[in-house]
Amino acid sequence: MLFSMTITWEWRGAFRNEEINQLHAEGFNHAYFDDDWADLLSRLSLGWVTARDGQGLVGFVNVIWDGRVHAFIEDTLVAHRARRQGIGKILVAVATEHSRKAGCQWLHVDFEDQLKSFYFDACGFRPTNAGLIQLTI
Ligand SMILES: CC(C)(COP(=O)(O)OP(=O)(O)OC[C@H]1O[C@@H](n2cnc3c(N)ncnc32)[C@H](O)[C@@H]1OP(=O)(O)O)[C@@H](O)C(=O)NCCC(=O)NCCS
Repeated sequence: MLFSMTITWEWRGAFRNEEINQLHAEGFNHAYFDDDWADLLSRLSLGWVTARDGQGLVGFVNVIWDGRVHAFIEDTLVAHRARRQGIGKILVAVATEHSRKAGCQWLHVDFEDQLKSFYFDACGFRPTNAGLIQLTI
């Protein structure tokens, strides 16, 4: 567990599904979905990072993987009320540290243009070629 003045970061930290669903809806600007994150994360993730302040969950990132050397950052989320205070950067740093500890060699992420500065400059990713096929419309 990592502590700062008011925020606690935790790898594989406890959460309620409603907390992540709320953060996801707010972060990606969609309706509230009733997803079972406890089930999804326990089956499909290497781990995840939670960030909490006195009011509750303010940050979350999911790390999925191939079971061997590749880990993938998904759903980096910081609540509106807590943005631009360095929380996202630390979420990714904790995810990076634990992916390395798990024996992964590569941490991947993809994102839209406006987040280049966040992922490249703040979080330390470097540009690479990647590809994407949209499977459903
Ligand atoms: C992206 C996100 C997680 C960043 O979280 P955050 O805690 O606000 O980020 P940080 O405070 O750690 O940012 C560190 C630096 O990254 C850059 N940065 C962060 N958010 C940025 C943004 N929206 N646009 C441009 N640069 C950004 C800035 O350089 C920032 O430093 P500064 O505040 O001193 O200028 C947050 O904006 C969010 O939840 N967005 C909605 C969900 C989303 O799009 N997630 C990413 C999916 S790939």
